[in-house]
Amino acid sequence: MINIAILGFGNIGSGVAEVIEKNQAEIKNVLGDNLHVKYILDIRDIPGVVNDINIIVNDPDVKVICETMGGKEPAYTYTHLALEHGISVCSSNKELVDAYGVELSAIAREHNCSYLFEASVGGGIPVLRTIREAFGHEKVSRIAGILNGTCNYILTNMKAGKDFADALKEAQEKGFAERNPAADVEGHDTARKIAILASLVSGKKFSYEQVSCEGITNVTQQDIKDAEAQGMSIKLLGVYEAETQSVNVAPYLVPASSPLYGVNDVFNGIMVTGNMVDNVMFYGRGAGKLPTASAVVSDVIECAKTLGRNVKDGLEDLEPVASVNAPAKPDGQKFRVL
Ligand SMILES: NC(=O)c1ccc[n+]([C@@H]2O[C@H](COP(=O)([O-])OP(=O)(O)OC[C@H]3O[C@@H](n4cnc5c(N)ncnc54)[C@H](OP(=O)(O)O)[C@@H]3O)[C@@H](O)[C@H]2O)c1
Repeated sequence: MINIAILGFGNIGSGVAEVIEKNQAEIKNVLGDNLHVKYILDIRDIPGVVNDINIIVNDPDVKVICETMGGKEPAYTYTHLALEHGISVCSSNKELVDAYGVELSAIAREHNCSYLFEASVGGGIPVLRTIREAFGHEKVSRIAGILNGTCNYILTNMKAGKDFADALKEAQEKGFAERNPAADVEGHDTARKIAILASLVSGKKFSYEQVSCEGITNVTQQDIKDAEAQGMSIKLLGVYEAETQSVNVAPYLVPASSPLYGVNDVFNGIMVTGNMVDNVMFYGRGAGKLPTASAVVSDVIECAKTLGRNVKDGLEDLEPVASVNAPAKPDGQKFRVL
């Protein structure tokens, strides 16, 4: 039996426990052993839940920790501590990966354990693992992704006739958007994710703060109609271009011929272009309790299969890029065309 701990028993953390419980047989089949949640740490006083990270990291039985707390602190301190104790950490926390991923990756290597973060980009879509394992030999020229389900839901509903405010209100009522939706609608969430993707394929560390970021708050009903008249859809994209070393987030006009055109509602779509493989399209649920938890569990299984060793995470020794370009907008146009 492989003992694990979950830090932060919210949406995703409780989802991890549920995936492990419901898919025990499948996990045993792929891992050759059972996963057992020995500890849950949360700030709340829930029976059976611990509040002290030291209890967890000082228990030699604990082999893998899931960090599903979110935010920079105490997630950074706890992750650091776990890795120093040789305990692998699997994270859904894009903010932490963006800010400290390179450093945490190095600590994991030093202590023969792993820092994996599949769930931090694209929720349940196994895009990071595929990039790491199947695209290592490719020269990736471009990544274009619909990476925020809330924005995509709002834009899909605007296309169906709602205005921005009503579409946002509906997303909030259905639980897709936070009460404070700024990180989503202003593009910051997408910026964090495209910065992580760009870092994995470029061999340089792109940071979220360097990414030129325009959200969807200025997209009007008229813009959507104009796009439709041209046979296009407006989608909030995070785009990385290798040739110009540019990374940006903005609403784009997406032609009907693109596979991203048909990615609607809360779904995410990520198109990766390699010099040999050409376009590869990833599609699925980019958020939500069980899809995201499933991605965390896929990392846990990888760590459990490789105990005492470091799994390459793609952030090894990345140097920060000096500056990040944004592609120019066509003269007089409100939107770039994909
Ligand atoms: N929700 C999604 O669909 C989704 C998708 C992809 C990635 N993620 C990422 O996954 C992470 C978790 O998201 P979530 O939606 O599960 O958030 P959440 O529901 O708010 O869960 C976070 C949990 O961690 C607890 N926590 C916060 N600070 C803590 C501390 N100092 N010590 C111990 N526990 C603490 C919270 O307790 P309180 O509630 O008492 O604060 C809460 O139970 C975030 O990084 C998020 O970006 C989420």
